[in-house]
Amino acid sequence: METKYLIVDKNVDSHDAYAQAVDFLNKGEVVAFPTETVYGLGAVATDEVAVQKIFAAKERPSDNPLIVHIAHKEQVRDYVQHIPEVAQKCMDAFWPGPLTLILQEKPNFFAENVTAGLSTVGLRVPDHPVALRLLAAINKPLAAPSANRSGKPSPTKAQHVAEDMTNRISCILDGGATGVGLESTVLDVTVTPPVILRPGGVTKEMLEAVIGSVIQPTDKEQENPNTPKAPGMKYTHYAPEAPVLLIEPETENVQQAIAQLQAAGHRVALLASESFAESEANYFFTYGKDDNVDEMSSALYDALRACDKTDATIILATTTTRVGVGVAIMNRLEKAAGGQWYK
Ligand code: TXA
Ligand code: MG
Repeated sequence: METKYLIVDKNVDSHDAYAQAVDFLNKGEVVAFPTETVYGLGAVATDEVAVQKIFAAKERPSDNPLIVHIAHKEQVRDYVQHIPEVAQKCMDAFWPGPLTLILQEKPNFFAENVTAGLSTVGLRVPDHPVALRLLAAINKPLAAPSANRSGKPSPTKAQHVAEDMTNRISCILDGGATGVGLESTVLDVTVTPPVILRPGGVTKEMLEAVIGSVIQPTDKEQENPNTPKAPGMKYTHYAPEAPVLLIEPETENVQQAIAQLQAAGHRVALLASESFAESEANYFFTYGKDDNVDEMSSALYDALRACDKTDATIILATTTTRVGVGVAIMNRLEKAAGGQWYK
């Protein structure tokens, strides 16, 4: 299948590009589009055959449900059985934005494979002009997981989508780099108190300021089979080809680690903030300015993917503190590293 690559930059008249994308979607094809978090792989959420093409293109296990993207919070009542008060407060406070709400779905509305047979559905209104314009133009809910192949870091640029999806999907809308850079926070509001199934740009602190107590299982707690979690969180994720080792961003320690790994015959790629640019690593990819978690979350997946373009045999990734967005960054880094730290 040939993949149509369409630029929907704000500097060009994109009317025709949206019309083509809508046409593909209405014909049951898959279209990749940018959101404020990462690129999504979209199909009409009521079209089982189209949704199946998403699973095939991603090579995604069929027990992992997709998030449904909608244009406006008013549409939620058409898709769910009941809107709990906490859910309404979250929608009012954080939509459009990087928060997915898990709610009890109305039976037989979405295609069965969207929710992987669960009775709940994840919904969100993305905060990105291209995603919103596409949703408005098609006027249907779009199921869209991140537009990477399963296991790979999520795409934050259309180029990343092209690397993973060329000749697998019908169309890529290139709207430039995404902003947040990490996938949305997934919050289960079918339980009391609500549980964060996946940390993201909307933090526990931000949620608690609006709805009160929220449960956020630690990475350790997530390993417990009794902890509620998103079906997708059990799979390997965000992994570049070479193994990743985590290390605290402490200059001497990092220098020593590089020297030791090189002495053992490794070619080392270092992921760290700008102040590490002068290190002796064979490759260096930056997260941006020191102590800036927003730049770090925005740059993380691009940096992980950049390692795959080198012949590095090991990746040293510096860490951050687990507060605010740092919780989400560390969650993704721990998964990319399979929990391995440099020792
Ligand atoms: O930012 C994002 O959320 C991006 C953009 C494209 O919107 N999408 C994204 O989708 O990250 P995906 O499919 O890669 O991740 C969705 C996560 C998975 O871990 C999945 O298991 C979980 O949300 N999920 C979806 N529906 C669920 C449900 N009904 N109950 C529990 N978890 C659910
Ligand atoms: Mg994903």
